[in-house]
Amino acid sequence: MKQSKITISRDYRIAEVDNRIFGSFIEHLGRAVYGGIYEPGHPDADENGFRRDVLKLIREIDVPIVRYPGGNFVSGYRWEDGVGPVELRPRRLELAWSTTETNRFGTNEFMRWCKEANTAAMMAVNLGTRGADDARNLVEYCNHPGGTYYSDLRRSHGAEQPHGIKLWCLGNEMDGDWQMGHKNAVEYGRAANEAGKLMKWVDPSIETVLCGSSNSHMSTFGEWEATALDLCYDKVDYVSLHQYFDCRDGDVKNFLAKTLDLDNYIKTVVCVCDYIKGKRRSKKKINLSFDEWNVWYHSNGAQFEKWSEAPHILEDVYNFADALVVGLMLITLLKNSDRVKVACLAQLVNVIAPIMTENGGKAWAQTIFYPYMHASRYGRGAALQTLLSTTKHDTKDFTDVGDMDAVAIWNESEETVTLFAVNRDFEEDNLVSLNLKDFPGYVPVEHISMAGFDLMAVNTKDSAPVKPVHTPLCGAYSAEQQFSLAPLSWNVIRLKKD
Ligand code: AHR
Repeated sequence: MKQSKITISRDYRIAEVDNRIFGSFIEHLGRAVYGGIYEPGHPDADENGFRRDVLKLIREIDVPIVRYPGGNFVSGYRWEDGVGPVELRPRRLELAWSTTETNRFGTNEFMRWCKEANTAAMMAVNLGTRGADDARNLVEYCNHPGGTYYSDLRRSHGAEQPHGIKLWCLGNEMDGDWQMGHKNAVEYGRAANEAGKLMKWVDPSIETVLCGSSNSHMSTFGEWEATALDLCYDKVDYVSLHQYFDCRDGDVKNFLAKTLDLDNYIKTVVCVCDYIKGKRRSKKKINLSFDEWNVWYHSNGAQFEKWSEAPHILEDVYNFADALVVGLMLITLLKNSDRVKVACLAQLVNVIAPIMTENGGKAWAQTIFYPYMHASRYGRGAALQTLLSTTKHDTKDFTDVGDMDAVAIWNESEETVTLFAVNRDFEEDNLVSLNLKDFPGYVPVEHISMAGFDLMAVNTKDSAPVKPVHTPLCGAYSAEQQFSLAPLSWNVIRLKKD
């Protein structure tokens, strides 16, 4: 058995976790919208065509914010196509994913759906094929109360009250040559500056997100963020990061270590933001929006019919190993919650998602649903510096990988401490000693764990074996509590003041 020690103190906080760190993403891509959240005619659809079975699963997670409508899709999107009478909306060739977009679902449907899902919108504007003018018109359409062309247009479309969308993405992955309207950093920085400026003139209460690099392996990584940010520093509030991990080589040990890269990526972007802050002698701090993150590789190469409507695209079926990596990614995001204020698990339904559906049929939770749900439910509060002393190992690409990783969250008003932990070891238990000297009276109440599954085990519509086990705990207070983490396990240890 391996052993670890964790020390936490109420005085050593990383940050109060911004709830938006538990966000997600719905793109007009494959069956995320059509057949995912929206399927009129489905036996469980409500009067708006929203699938109630999907809404129920989303409410279980408690998703605070959802990015929309893309992704790559947004870089060719004409938002006007998706508002007004449905029968007048154009069918368009959708070039990002080579499908046909019917526009039956658009901005107002999404905002109505957000209410049902008890979530907020994070809206993206098209800075690929369009620019500042269309972006500011969309802000006017969504957020201006009335008495102007676009706000009255919204009212004529049945949305009397402004949507009040507070968070806006200035385009998507503009550094990638796959993007419609791809730009270099100077072109993009200037476009983002003008768009952000006009959008904030329309509604000064909004916040904007600058596109950082599409991932840390882009050849322009670092330089892209610095150049673009310097050109629009006063018009943006966050820089975006995107990261998807894969296990194409089948090396799960190495796969489980990839969150070291994630941590490094975050810290590098923080440095770039602070470098530009210093260079400009600014008082304003730019934070991070990790608005696409997940595991993504199972579905790559799957075929679909070009220009079809809502085909099966990127429908990764996640296994238990993926759930462990998602858990580790959540731990890493929480550990960096002093700067990561927004994060979106990409995506929410069907497309590289925790929730899957069949058209006309069931909806079910994939393996990755559970760590995401646990983090969202129990990860709200203050993230604590989690001083972790553990044994280490090396993998193909990484050295000094902790045999376990963990983060603790203290919810002061509810008087709870939650420890999220992953044991990376393939064979041995890890006995964790948690120092609770600074939390007198806090007793363990529950250990939720996912362990003992075949790493390749998956959930399907007919059989969903990969799910957590809830073990009630009823110990007395002790300054040092011990918990045993099974080999290859995701753990949520919940303590509450007696
Ligand atoms: O989430 C799927 C796609 O991944 C998004 O459209 C794009 O932004 C990213 O490359």
